[in-house]
Amino acid sequence: MSKPNRRKIRTFALLLCIITFTTFLFSYTLRDPSVYFFKYASRLSDSFFAKGPCACRQCVTELEDDPWFAERFNQSIHPLMTRENSVLSDETFKWWQWLQSERHPANFSGVVEELFRVIPDEVLYMDASPERCRTCAVVGNSGNLMGSKYGSLIDSSDFIIRMNQAPTAGFEEDVGTRTTHHVMYPESAKDLDINTSLVLIPFKTLDLQWIISALTTGTIKHTYVPVMSQIKANKDKVMIYSPTFFKYVYESWLEGHGRYPSTGFLTLLLAIHICDKVNVFGFGADQYGNWHHYWEDNTLSGAFRHTGVHDGDYEYNVTLLLADKHKIQMFKGR
Ligand code: C5P
Repeated sequence: MSKPNRRKIRTFALLLCIITFTTFLFSYTLRDPSVYFFKYASRLSDSFFAKGPCACRQCVTELEDDPWFAERFNQSIHPLMTRENSVLSDETFKWWQWLQSERHPANFSGVVEELFRVIPDEVLYMDASPERCRTCAVVGNSGNLMGSKYGSLIDSSDFIIRMNQAPTAGFEEDVGTRTTHHVMYPESAKDLDINTSLVLIPFKTLDLQWIISALTTGTIKHTYVPVMSQIKANKDKVMIYSPTFFKYVYESWLEGHGRYPSTGFLTLLLAIHICDKVNVFGFGADQYGNWHHYWEDNTLSGAFRHTGVHDGDYEYNVTLLLADKHKIQMFKGR
């Protein structure tokens, strides 16, 4: 083969390689380029600055830098229930039973035994290490998400934790599309995707019986209101919020304010305990002082603040303090 011909073939092969590579890169990022931008930009900066107990730039659990946080944070209490930590102290059991007092509660340990025959008994997420940088988005239901365009940023986290009725369909641009964990209780339950973990907050023994029933026979249809008798959820991805942790959140973090913590605040503390970096969306009022849900038009509903059982203002102030101390990052929306 002549020299000019060989050069032509080589140039052609090189061109082909470049075209194939750029086509691959382009089609990959086109699905949602901003997701990849946010993800990799933040990963890059995180690993560049990494030092302390996790591989993020700043880790939630760096205790020595803040006495207020260190006084409240107790890493030894696991947020999720296992057979082993399900044995409650008398004091915890009494407090927990008082939340939504049941007239004739079933035998607690018997129900727990039955529960772990239906769902996995695993210690989850207690794997903090200097190599781990687990980023989490806690997505509350505030109307301040409307028009925020946080969707891509939310979707770029490792864990995306939503709660109660939280819809995504129709609100993708503002709230994102992915949900790795959905926190609920029987009266706020909804069907989930097969890949989403269901985190149940139990307020009474009947709630544990309800999740067993909702995943199997569907016999429980009523608690203090009608509830879903069956739920679409992956049994292998169901986890239970620990009553001991619930009491710890109420006493250590809310110092007894309100009757008990809101779903949002309980979820925030769950994230602080299982994540290395926590971004918070959809908490608090919108720019006009309205406390409605992002999927509701009625800005006068005051959906969250005036429930009567939670101290919305106190919770919000603690949340702001956590942000001031760089333990979480707040995205206040519109
Ligand atoms: O109303 P719901 O309890 O379903 O909302 C989930 C959580 O989102 C609340 O528990 C609260 O922490 C947060 N939220 C809020 N401001 C709102 C609505 C909800 O902070 N306007």
